[in-house]
Amino acid sequence: MFWLSLLACPDPSGGTDTDVVQTDTTTVEPEERHHPAGYAEPSVHGTEAKLQEQVCRACHGDGLQGGISQVSCTTCHAQAGFGGWDRDCTFCHGSGDDPAPPEDIDDNTDPASISFPEHTNHTAETEQHDPYDCIECHVLPADVLSDGHLFVGDDTPGVAEVFWPAGQTPPDARSPDAVYDAATSTCTNVYCHGAGLGRAGEVSSGDNVVCGGCHGVAVANQLSVPHRLHINAGVDCDSCHPTAVREPSWEIVDKSLHIDGEITMISTPGGLTWDADSRACTGSCHGKDTHPAKAWNPVE
Ligand code: HEC
Ligand code: HEC
Ligand code: HEC
Ligand code: HEC
Ligand code: HEC
Ligand code: HEC
Repeated sequence: MFWLSLLACPDPSGGTDTDVVQTDTTTVEPEERHHPAGYAEPSVHGTEAKLQEQVCRACHGDGLQGGISQVSCTTCHAQAGFGGWDRDCTFCHGSGDDPAPPEDIDDNTDPASISFPEHTNHTAETEQHDPYDCIECHVLPADVLSDGHLFVGDDTPGVAEVFWPAGQTPPDARSPDAVYDAATSTCTNVYCHGAGLGRAGEVSSGDNVVCGGCHGVAVANQLSVPHRLHINAGVDCDSCHPTAVREPSWEIVDKSLHIDGEITMISTPGGLTWDADSRACTGSCHGKDTHPAKAWNPVE
């Protein structure tokens, strides 16, 4: 801009003045430039910004509106048609309407080589569950200046925070003590990858997450004890969890009810009724026996 206009109108004296250095017949550069030539290129300055290779706010101002550099990020982005860039989540990661990778912060889009290849298995519907929101695993920033996102209060440049810093765990988090180890891509203390009996689930990137991966190899292995009595007597899962699973296909019938934080029980076709408060069944099972409010005791 400023030096481009100098290029168009060279110093009439033809000599080197305090503003420009004549390096050859075609290139004119200001003397005191902070950034190298070509820095306005989005892939150059955008990558440095995302990886926090410099503290942009130190010179471009706390709100990135210019500061001592007098070059406003927002004004220039607006000129390129991105006035709301600071709240436009796919400006930097994700694509279309979806801010989640693939298309990570390195502009990499190959799911095989991004930091968390299973992202889409969580943020989109699968055969086992409905889409999960970002807040299941991240603090959700409102804009680029949100605390812990990238420009403010983030001490891990280029690496996304997974789970929540102390004091910011959502009150209804299913796995409030969850831990993510980026080196091994492993989550521990998670509810969702457990058997439904607690929050001790563990999973690593690349694990084969089929029914038995969470519920035990022979499915019934990790279920609460009274399951065994019923399953050994030939009672199928869908007799007691008909809205959740359909046998023999092991298809999840209503995904919104699976891995949603609640164990889904309903009355059985045999006429039993489940009372969640007393955790007991009443009624008769195919007329063979009676269940006088027999409690389901997981640790029997
Ligand atoms: C000279 C104009 C200009 C200035 C000044 C500028 N940008 Fe940009 N920036 C652009 C353009 C143009 C794009 C590309 C927009 C598009 O087409 O997606 C861009 C893109 C970006 C991207 C996204 C890159 C990507 O590939 O994901 C980031 C991040 C970014 N700018 C950060 C900043 C920050 C931070 C500042 C201020 C410290 C800043 N920019 C100042 C012009 C500018
Ligand atoms: C030490 C101060 C300083 C820091 C830190 C700084 N800038 Fe700048 N920036 C400037 C100044 C001064 C200019 C005006 C042109 C120049 O001197 O390079 C500028 C200009 C720019 C431009 C316009 C490009 C051009 O060629 O004129 C972009 C884009 C930009 N900065 C992006 C960033 C981004 C992104 C960061 C953080 C990764 C950043 N700057 C960090 C001082 C700084
Ligand atoms: C099941 C948990 C989970 C959910 C849900 C989730 N993420 Fe992530 N996300 C991760 C993990 C794990 C990483 C990888 C962190 C690492 O190893 O660097 C990650 C990384 C990222 C990154 C950085 C990518 C990179 O370039 O390294 C961004 C950006 C991101 N997530 C955004 C989102 C957004 C936006 C959503 C919601 C639409 C979302 N995530 C939902 C677990 C999740
Ligand atoms: C200027 C680029 C930029 C924009 C715009 C942007 N992000 Fe990010 N986002 C990043 C970077 C870079 C990371 C990796 C973060 C790090 O270093 O901690 C990230 C990480 C994340 C993460 C992972 C958790 C974390 O903070 O590390 C989530 C979730 C996320 N962004 C959501 C959003 C949402 C939602 C929006 C829109 C409101 C948005 N982002 C807009 C650059 C951006
Ligand atoms: C006789 C009825 C019955 C059958 C058959 C049955 N369940 Fe259950 N299931 C229950 C009851 C009762 C609970 C406890 C509900 C509660 O704690 O609120 C339960 C709880 C669960 C839970 C939560 C964790 C646990 O172990 O308590 C899972 C997971 C589960 N069942 C899966 C299955 C699967 C898979 C099958 C088939 C292999 C199956 N169930 C068969 C009645 C049954
Ligand atoms: C990622 C781990 C995971 C996988 C994979 C998984 N489940 Fe579950 N499942 C759970 C958890 C956790 C619960 C506890 C209840 C809840 O939150 O819905 C559960 C609950 C159930 C229940 C009890 C009813 C309910 O939804 O509450 C049944 C039945 C069940 N799962 C069957 C299956 C079948 C069949 C498959 C394979 C198609 C499967 N599960 C795959 C974690 C998993």
